[in-house]
Amino acid sequence: MAFNIAIDGPAGAGKSTIAKRIAAKKGYIYVDTGAMYRAMALYLLREGATTEEIDEKCEGADITIAHENGEQVVYLNGENVNPYIRTEEVGRMASVSSPNPRVRKKLTQLQQKLAASTDVVMDGRDIGTCVLPDAQVKVYLTADSHERALRRYRELTEKGEPCELAVIERDIVERDRQDMTREISPLKQAEDAVLIDSSHMTIEEVADAVIALCDV
Ligand code: DC
Repeated sequence: MAFNIAIDGPAGAGKSTIAKRIAAKKGYIYVDTGAMYRAMALYLLREGATTEEIDEKCEGADITIAHENGEQVVYLNGENVNPYIRTEEVGRMASVSSPNPRVRKKLTQLQQKLAASTDVVMDGRDIGTCVLPDAQVKVYLTADSHERALRRYRELTEKGEPCELAVIERDIVERDRQDMTREISPLKQAEDAVLIDSSHMTIEEVADAVIALCDV
């Protein structure tokens, strides 16, 4: 049976950084489910879909993933869309389209299929609660919103992108609210998930804590 590690939590808590480290250490595949929701959002943006049209239009998106040179590559109808899915516009659309039941069903099935046959570290919002309820290790990784905004601010500033800390923090709080209050698969800690608050922890400390859970 494949070994599955589920890492959920709000945006900016450090899920992908940690998940990638654990995957490299254990020799598992890292599955970034947010990237799949972003690829779907990109498709809907390109189609000019309104909120009402998401249901119908999402069926036209065929999303698959592959791992090339240790990186997850997301394909949208055969096109590598990795270069286009990390924009703020796609992120905003993803938080509008990800509550849609058809979108969730489609992507959840793909995620479950991947994890059934492969040892994975999968991160997202509903992995421990809905996608992989039987995962051997479940972590709910969080950090306070100001700390998460600071991390994002530093990341953007390092890339030379102009930004405002207060605007980033407001967006993070709003995105948390949308992810936590949606009807289907809201972001919440699974009952059997271990809570890790990374606000005052280094990446190494968090990674060590998760590895320790795998070795129990
Ligand atoms: O983690 P991220 O910012 O790349 O996620 C993009 C969007 O997709 C975000 O609005 C949350 C949503 N998402 C989700 O609903 N379920 C998941 N398993 C992963 C992401």
